[in-house]
Amino acid sequence: MRIIGRNTLMKMPLMTQDELKLAVAKAAIEYITPKLDKESVIGVGTGSTANLFIQELGNIKHLFDGAVASSDETARRLNDLGISVYELNDVNEILVYVDGADEFDPRLNLIKGGGAALTREKIVAAVAKEFVCIVDDTKQVDILGEFPLPVEVIPMARSHVARELCKLNAQPVYRQGVVTDNGNVIIDVHNLDISDAKGIEAKINNIVGVVTNGLFAQRNADLLLMGSADGVAKITAK
Ligand code: A5P
Repeated sequence: MRIIGRNTLMKMPLMTQDELKLAVAKAAIEYITPKLDKESVIGVGTGSTANLFIQELGNIKHLFDGAVASSDETARRLNDLGISVYELNDVNEILVYVDGADEFDPRLNLIKGGGAALTREKIVAAVAKEFVCIVDDTKQVDILGEFPLPVEVIPMARSHVARELCKLNAQPVYRQGVVTDNGNVIIDVHNLDISDAKGIEAKINNIVGVVTNGLFAQRNADLLLMGSADGVAKITAK
């Protein structure tokens, strides 16, 4: 992990977590603005930090063509601001994808899916030329896994997938009452050993019935903007 810059203008020692999220949302706008033109389509994430980014995006909507959303909720918020929302199949390129995370490690591997939008998030991130992750400093860890890993599962495979996850010496917990935008269910995996993030990402994705899991290691973040009492740090993996 390498800190390549810090905006100390945003330094405010007594900031709340919500204020830190707003500071990184604004920093993301500042970062993407010079890259935009009238043809640009950007990818937009899901969650409370992404929502603040969406709010700020409304102020620069004249600078780009439109957006691809990582969830129905994000699409609704973009629409409300008058930002054109495209189906992914209808765009050739996503210039940049901006989204939050539940945890990040020094390699900028992420856990995502606290809001159950992991599959579409992963698809948009895979297509995007650049992935900018926006977080406050509570999301920083040395090794991923304190936050339970969300796994999206085809409903009929729920018990089978849970049994397979137990074989990894972890505790799967069914997220009751949650149905994803894709009509599936979520299993949160507690106490999973994620010392090999890419390996475990592939292993879980290989269980029959798993749609995808919330590890973003094969496609990690290119740049992370982290808000803390010291300002907004710009971080790359190396
Ligand atoms: C949504 O499914 C998630 O991947 C979010 O990006 C993640 O949970 C971060 O959310 P907050 O910005 O609300 O912390």
